[in-house]
Amino acid sequence: MEQSELRARLAHAGQDHLLRFLPELSRAEQRALSEELRGMDFEELGRFFRRAMESGGAGQDKVDARMEPVPRQVLGSATRDRDQLHDWEQRGLHHISQSKVAVLLLAGGQGTRLGVSYPKGMYDVGLPSHKTLFQIQAERILKLQQLAEKEHGTKCVIPWYIMTSGRTMESTKEFFLKHKYFGLKKENVVFFQQGLLPAMGFDGKILLEEKSKVSMAPDGNGGLYRALGAHGIMEDMERRGIGSIHVYCVDNILVKVADPRFIGFCIQKGADCGAKVVEKTNPTEPVGVVCRVDGVYQVVEYSEISLATAQKRSPDGRLLFNAGNIANHYFTVAFLRDVVNTYEPQLQHHVAQKKIPHVDVASGQLLQPDKPNGIKMEKFVFDIFQFAKKFVVYEVLREDEFSPLKNADSQNGKDNPTTARHALMSLHHCWVLNAGGHFVDENGTRIPAIPRFTNGRPDAIRADVNDNLKDANDLPIQCEISPLVSYGGEGLEQYVKNREFRAPLIIDENGVHELVKNGV
Ligand code: UD1
Repeated sequence: MEQSELRARLAHAGQDHLLRFLPELSRAEQRALSEELRGMDFEELGRFFRRAMESGGAGQDKVDARMEPVPRQVLGSATRDRDQLHDWEQRGLHHISQSKVAVLLLAGGQGTRLGVSYPKGMYDVGLPSHKTLFQIQAERILKLQQLAEKEHGTKCVIPWYIMTSGRTMESTKEFFLKHKYFGLKKENVVFFQQGLLPAMGFDGKILLEEKSKVSMAPDGNGGLYRALGAHGIMEDMERRGIGSIHVYCVDNILVKVADPRFIGFCIQKGADCGAKVVEKTNPTEPVGVVCRVDGVYQVVEYSEISLATAQKRSPDGRLLFNAGNIANHYFTVAFLRDVVNTYEPQLQHHVAQKKIPHVDVASGQLLQPDKPNGIKMEKFVFDIFQFAKKFVVYEVLREDEFSPLKNADSQNGKDNPTTARHALMSLHHCWVLNAGGHFVDENGTRIPAIPRFTNGRPDAIRADVNDNLKDANDLPIQCEISPLVSYGGEGLEQYVKNREFRAPLIIDENGVHELVKNGV
């Protein structure tokens, strides 16, 4: 395309300010900017902008008034349906053993709140082993493959699809290469890249990050569906004979990748789409809620629900909208195929008003706004629930499965490296107790375990130490069990039954290590 043609296209779309600084740029910069702009579909961007602004402007009251909680019939619960857990687990493991289950990691976010310049999965929350989130997830996949193989006597693979964005792709791939894919086979770890969209002012004008560079951001975790189509990922899944996918977010240190119970539950219910939730107990907690709007399942995001609605309570005192989305989703491949081929274009972008640094086209100055000056448009991964023929919800305990890493330690006391580390160690402490082990203090006195009750029944022996650490004295027992040893607390008796330990305790593939006794 000639420069004059590009200019005409931009003028037609009302975006010709993007070439305003062209004469000042070096030849290389001119080429890079022109190339970037040539790749953009301005008609489509204009359409996205208009639709996003229209839907973003819809009255919040209207959504709130149309929301209904998830009905019990579609709900399975890890605590209320205990008699079925074994069956679900067996079904899930059977599918896994036949290599019909894949996991898909959403890792294209920018980790703005955590404030690191590298992908979040590379973060080390400071566990005794210093494993990163990527390593923990990889080892859980490895262990689950082994468990399924042992149960069914067949070799199996759980392929791991990892969606990154332009900003995270190279560093993510390098990290995996450097760590030899954490023991997984390279061909079973498939990276692909989601798309980017330009940031725009409220007037629909695209913003410049630099004089030679458009301000671009990932198109949201719902960019997944377009990316699946663009990179031939559906074909890869079909070629491998995959039937079910577990999609999850990178930041949850407790995530049970390809959780056989969740998979088995969805399969037993004949669902094509499912969501795992925890009970939301605090109205202002930043989690979306799974609910129905006009009879259609969806997640109303924490940024989109009004406080009044978030605070509504049922007669039993619980929050009315308490199905807290932990961003763990189940899809059949057939459903995903329909989404990619048919429904994706119908998904609307959500609008986030942001303070977007940009070059002022009049003055050429770089501006750092102190109030929102434009929008970023994102699709959300759960927006496809509306197209499901059979949608189900699976509720699990927060302390077993959800502790997201969102913020830096300095920012606030929630969802940060400390809470993530403590949640994992607290859970592993429970696993040791449940397997018949005990912890003693420096005098050799047993540390009492406090039973925790779930719905009036003792759930298990629980060390109720650290959900929300309030002060520094409230520290959990330092205990870390490698996923290579146990996926979900199973198989620990041989290591811990009737034994007493002093923390810090690590159990890994090389055995049991008491760091103090061994003088480490
Ligand atoms: C997300 C959920 C929210 C849920 C919460 C639980 C969405 C849209 N929202 O919110 O309902 O209660 O997690 O922790 O799912 N990502 C991409 N590409 C992007 C943007 C994000 O892959 O363009 C990935 C991130 O890497 C991350 C995940 O999506 O793994 C969630 O992103 P984040 O921005 O942290 O979502 P939340 O706002 O916390």
